[in-house]
Amino acid sequence: MPKKPYIIANWKMNLEGRSVERFFGHFQPTAGQLESAQIVICPSFVFIDKVKRLIGGRPIAVGGQDISLHIRGAFTGEVSAEQLQTAGASQVIIGHSERRYYFHETDEMINQKVRLALQFGLSPILCIGENAQEKEDGLTKKVVERQLHQCLAEVRSHEIRRILIAYEPVWAISTSPDNPGGVADTPESAQVVHRYVRTVIRDLYDEHTAVTQVIVYGGSVSPDNVNGFTRMDDIDGILVGGASKDAASFQKILNQVVNT
Ligand code: PGA
Repeated sequence: MPKKPYIIANWKMNLEGRSVERFFGHFQPTAGQLESAQIVICPSFVFIDKVKRLIGGRPIAVGGQDISLHIRGAFTGEVSAEQLQTAGASQVIIGHSERRYYFHETDEMINQKVRLALQFGLSPILCIGENAQEKEDGLTKKVVERQLHQCLAEVRSHEIRRILIAYEPVWAISTSPDNPGGVADTPESAQVVHRYVRTVIRDLYDEHTAVTQVIVYGGSVSPDNVNGFTRMDDIDGILVGGASKDAASFQKILNQVVNT
């Protein structure tokens, strides 16, 4: 993990006004931590502005959890890339397995969203990863390769630099129906997939892009297991769901990764 590690919180549809305030009352990264790690908080759309205000001048980025497939117009309930960017977000999670599973998002739709995010100045956090059945069938590499090819279609080499890839095996996500036991991947097997993602990026782009590509791991990351992941050569940070909702556990994760 030679790059500045990314520590990304995906709050999903959790926390409301008061608990967002409480979170920032307890989550207090040190100046050294802010310098050594890139922290990104992804709240629900309605709290983007509040989270920005609570962060104040500190170098903590804010991200959305999704964007609309459409640029603008009569799409009741949707939030566009431009709206998210002008609300103060710099990143956006795209293609999360919950979007794929519950909202039937396809790789083609995810590709469209990735390109819209780039067009409107957002950095996509592109989620990929196999489900339990695909893992059992030995298809992990095939699945991530297909997802990368399709989700990155028509993304040029100067644009891929703005994209973070999050490898999140669906069966390892704490709340996934695929994960009744709540287990994480092992750092060793996640490392193998991260290394493979780099080879796919090399084939799609070039050696330099493959080496510098940020690839984070997500799936049941906790203060107890985070170091195992971030110690790995090809794991550049983590995307945390359940353990990011609670300021104390998110702070512990940060303390484990950067102890300054
Ligand atoms: P988890 O979620 O840390 O609760 O497994 C990760 C994610 O879904 O992004």
